[in-house]
Amino acid sequence: MNASGVHCTNLDELDALLNEGVGAVVTKSCTLEYRVGNPEPRYATIPYGSINSMGLPNNGIKYYIDFIEKNQAETDKLIMLSVAGLSKTENLELLAIANQSAAIKIIELNLSCPNIPGKPQTGYDFDATESLLNEAFAICKKPIAVKLPPYFDMAHFEAMAEVLNKFPLAYVCCVNSIGNGMWIDTATESTVIKPKNGFGGIGGLFIKPTALANVRMFYKLLNNIDVVGCGGVQTGQDAFEHILCGASMVQIGTTLWEEGKTCFERISNELAEIMNVKGYNSINDFKGKLNEI
Ligand code: SIN
Repeated sequence: MNASGVHCTNLDELDALLNEGVGAVVTKSCTLEYRVGNPEPRYATIPYGSINSMGLPNNGIKYYIDFIEKNQAETDKLIMLSVAGLSKTENLELLAIANQSAAIKIIELNLSCPNIPGKPQTGYDFDATESLLNEAFAICKKPIAVKLPPYFDMAHFEAMAEVLNKFPLAYVCCVNSIGNGMWIDTATESTVIKPKNGFGGIGGLFIKPTALANVRMFYKLLNNIDVVGCGGVQTGQDAFEHILCGASMVQIGTTLWEEGKTCFERISNELAEIMNVKGYNSINDFKGKLNEI
C-alpha cells in the first residue's frame, strides 16, 4: 500500500491508486479544514532518499470521507482514513466525525508528523499518546491504527510498546520519516527545502535500517497488534526484509513519489520471485522469522 502523504492528497491521485496493484490505500493525513501546507520547495530528492517538510497540505476531512463513501463499497481494497490533528482536541474532533461515517472501516491516526512549526510529534510524548488514545477509543468505535515516528533507544521502544499494548489497535505503522534532518546543496551553499530553515523528514533507502529495527522491536513487544512496515522500500527484497522483521503489510512512500504508481506491481513481482525461489507460498511462511545470530 501507499504511505500516507504520497499520491493520496487529491481525488485523481486516490482514484489512480485504487486502480493500481495496491493491497490497500491510505489517504493523506487530514485536518478539519483545508491546509495549504508549508511554503515550497518543500520536498527534495536527495541521494539515498528524500527530505520533506510538506506541512500537512490536505483538503480537509470531509473531502476524504466523501472519497471513501463513494469508493469503499465498490472496491475490495481497504481504504484507510489518515487523520493528523494539530492538537489533541482536533484529533478527537476528527475521530468523532470519522466515527459517524458507515463507509469508514479503519482510521490511521498520525502521531508523527515532524513538519509543523511549533508542534512536537505526539508519538515522542508517551503520556500524551496514552491520554489521546484513551479518549480516542472512548469517542470512536471504529478500528484505530497509529503511525509512529522512529524510535532510537531500547527504553523508548519499551515505553511506547507499554502504552500501545493497553489499546486494541488495528495496527501500528513503523515508521514515519526521521524528523528534522537536513540536506545541503554545496554548490549553492544552501538548504534544499524552504520550510523550517531547511529541516525536514528524511525518507527512502536512508532510513531502511531504522525502519527495520522499529518493525522488529514492535513486532516483538506488541501483543496481538499487527505491525505495518514503512521506510526504505525500493525493491521486493526490501519488502521481504520488512516482512521478515514482522511486518504484516508494507507501505511505500519515497519510491512511490519518485517512480510513480507502477512501483507496486514491480515490487510485488520482485517479492513474489524471492518467495518463489525460497519456496514460500504465503507471507506467513516467513513473517517475523528473522534469524537472530
Ligand atoms: C507532512 O505533510 O508534512 C508530512 C506528513 C507526515 O510526515 O506525517
